[in-house]
Amino acid sequence: MTINELIKQLFIAFSKKDEDGFYKLAEELIDLEKRKKHNILAKELKEALYSNGSAFKSQTNRKFRTNKPIPRDNDTGFPLLDIKKYDYLDWDQLILSKKTKYDLEQIVQGFRNREVLATYNLTPKSKVLFCGLPGTGKTYSAQMLSSVMNLPMVYVNFDAIISSYLGETASNLRKVFDFIKDDVWIVLFDEVDIIGKNRDDQHETGEIKRVVNNFLQMIDNFEGESLIIASTNHPHILDPAIWRRFDEVISFELPGESERKYIFELFLKPIKKVKGIDLQIIANETEGFSPSDIKTTCHDSITHAILNGRDTLELSDILYSLEKYKQRLELRKTW
Ligand SMILES: Nc1ncnc2c1ncn2[C@@H]1O[C@H](COP(=O)(O)OP(=O)(O)O)[C@@H](O)[C@H]1O
Ligand SMILES: [Mg+2]
Repeated sequence: MTINELIKQLFIAFSKKDEDGFYKLAEELIDLEKRKKHNILAKELKEALYSNGSAFKSQTNRKFRTNKPIPRDNDTGFPLLDIKKYDYLDWDQLILSKKTKYDLEQIVQGFRNREVLATYNLTPKSKVLFCGLPGTGKTYSAQMLSSVMNLPMVYVNFDAIISSYLGETASNLRKVFDFIKDDVWIVLFDEVDIIGKNRDDQHETGEIKRVVNNFLQMIDNFEGESLIIASTNHPHILDPAIWRRFDEVISFELPGESERKYIFELFLKPIKKVKGIDLQIIANETEGFSPSDIKTTCHDSITHAILNGRDTLELSDILYSLEKYKQRLELRKTW
C-alpha cells in the first residue's frame, strides 16, 4: 500500500471505530517508515500509538487470551510453552546476509497481504524452518518477527515436551497445537533437533521416528493463521521428510567480513572509542565468529575498559577479549 492509501484507510478505520484495523494499518505505516530508514520517526510513531497504556493492554489481552491455561506435562508438571511479547526490537539491528534478510521480509509481507493473496487462492508462507550454526540469529530472528509483526510469541519448550517418558510426547504436542489453534501467534519450536539427540538407545529409535512423524503431521495438518517456525542447529540429523513439510527453509550463515564489521559497530556503540580503532581490521581477524560470538567479545571489551577505570574503549581492550575468546573457540573445537 502506498502511504497515501494507508492514511486514507487509517481514517476509514477510525471513523468506523475498527480498532483492530486501525492498529494493523498504523503498524504498517510504521513499518513503511522503517523500511525508508526513518527510524526515529518510526520509533516516535510507535510510542505515540501505544502512549495510552490501556489501549496497548486491551490489544495485547485480546491476543494473549490469558484465560487459557498454559499446557503442562502430566508427569512433571512443567509448562510446555512460554508466552513472550517482544516490543521495540529494531529490525535494522538484525544483521544477516541480504538474501536471508530478504527471505524473512517476504514472510512478513506475506502475512500483511493475506487478503490479496487469498484473491489468487494463495496463502502466506506460514511454516518455516530456520537452519544454521548456533549463535547465527535464529531465535533472535523469530523474536524480531514477533516484534515487527506485532504478534506475541509462543515459545515451545521442546525439552519439556520430550523429557517425560516418550509415550507422553504425542499428547504434549497435541496440547501445544490445541493451545495455539484459535489465535494468531509466532510459534517457535526452538532447537527441534533435540528430538534426535541423546536418544541413541536402539529401543528408542522407533519411538523417536514416531515422535518426529507426529510432529511433522501436526505441522502439516495445522490450519491456523499463526506463523510456525522450527529452528535447528543440526539440519543433517533431521529426517529428510522434515524438509518437505515446511513452506520455506531459511538458512542462517556465519557472517562475512562486512557483516562482522557492522556487528562489531553495533555492539560497541554503547561506548566511546579512542581515535584510530579500525573495526575493519578486527572484522578481518574474526573469520568463523558468529554474531553471538561477536556480541560476547564486544561486551567483554567494554567491561575490560570499564573495570580498568576508563570510559573510552582502546584497541587493547578489544585485543584482550579477542585473544580470550579465540582460546575459548579452540577449546570448543577439541571437545
Ligand atoms: N544476525 C544477528 N544480528 C545481530 N545480532 C545477532 C545476530 N545473531 C545473533 N545475534 C545476537 O546474539 C544473540 C544470540 O543469538 P541467537 O538468536 O540466540 O542464536 P541462535 O538461535 O541462532 O543460536 C542474540 O540475542 C543477538 O543479540
Ligand atoms: Mg537459538
